[in-house]
Amino acid sequence: MKEWIIAVLPGDGIGPEVTAEAERVLEAVAERFGLGFATGCYAVGAAGVETAGDPLPEETRAAASAADAVLLGAVGDPAFDHAPRHLKPETGLLALRTLLGVYANLRPVAIHPALAGRSPVKPDRLRDVDLLIVRELTGGLYYGEPRGKNALQALNTLAYSTSEIERVARVAFQAARGRRRLVASVDKANVLEVSQLWRETVTRIGRDEYPDVRLEHLYVDYAAMRLVAEPASFDVLLTENTFGDILSDEAAVLVGALGLLPSASLGAGPGLFEPIHGSAPGIAGQGVANPIGAIASVAMLLRHGLGLAQPADAVEAAVRAALAGGARTKDIAAPGEPVLGTRAMGDRIVDLVGSAALEIRHGSEARARDQARVLREHP
Ligand code: IPM
Ligand code: MN
Repeated sequence: MKEWIIAVLPGDGIGPEVTAEAERVLEAVAERFGLGFATGCYAVGAAGVETAGDPLPEETRAAASAADAVLLGAVGDPAFDHAPRHLKPETGLLALRTLLGVYANLRPVAIHPALAGRSPVKPDRLRDVDLLIVRELTGGLYYGEPRGKNALQALNTLAYSTSEIERVARVAFQAARGRRRLVASVDKANVLEVSQLWRETVTRIGRDEYPDVRLEHLYVDYAAMRLVAEPASFDVLLTENTFGDILSDEAAVLVGALGLLPSASLGAGPGLFEPIHGSAPGIAGQGVANPIGAIASVAMLLRHGLGLAQPADAVEAAVRAALAGGARTKDIAAPGEPVLGTRAMGDRIVDLVGSAALEIRHGSEARARDQARVLREHP
């Protein structure tokens, strides 16, 4: 049996609690689908600084590079707010993204019907919301040189090359082909030269390579407005690193809680899979965090990282079934609804992976039988 190697980087704050549940779901999937996963845990972020004096310790680098996929919890700790940049937890995450070369960050946002009432956005606006943010992840302001700060001034650099824009644009167009074939590219081309190059490059890739995908360009300020005013009008939203960071938190408001959303960061090597929420130091260690973002990241890991579509479907079906059955952590519970802790929510989903797996396997066997019958009857 093939054994997939998964590097687990729990990180800081609620990271360890939510990745523990995600790992249990992975074990349940392994059992139900007869898969083998070898997982190992490594420090990142503040945990890395505390154990090895480095937010991305050498051992973690080596394990992440050698893995088939990397599952990360969260990084960030207010105790390091004033630490020098090389010792900040976030520096470890940015270095990890560079190390793995994961330039395309996919952040899907779909409304769960059972939770439509939890969003501050009116339910009629949320109907049919199903969008995918494709955020460039290894360039832009986060990485631009020169950079620096002294008492009198500070400097960051926004730079993108055409090849950086082309490769992430292709990911967005490709994803749109499997969806509603609509890409909205977000920039600030009325002000920024970098955005002008972004717009020209995306236009060229769309015209030359994906003429079947409809492309529109939006300024980021208008995109921010339309994301809450008409969220269902978006299919794939393509944007650079900083704009994507901001718009993805805004998009999380649509689903009602940051704790629900997963992400996949993809490049040429192992992918990096993490919930989009942060380390939430305010609730860390209390066992109340929502593990669904991390668990849904396992589904993305299976689908995009390992090419295991059915196990991924089973995890997503189990999450949907848990929510439909009324399972709620504190962040998504309506007033008066009973609340589950992190572990209890994990338990519900682990239990449901079994039946979801059965249904999916039966469904695919039935489809295969149908196909065989059709072929027999209409050779
Ligand atoms: C995210 C986070 C990170 C980012 C931080 C922790 C550096 O906010 O993944 O969205 O800005 O990319
Ligand atoms: Mn963010």
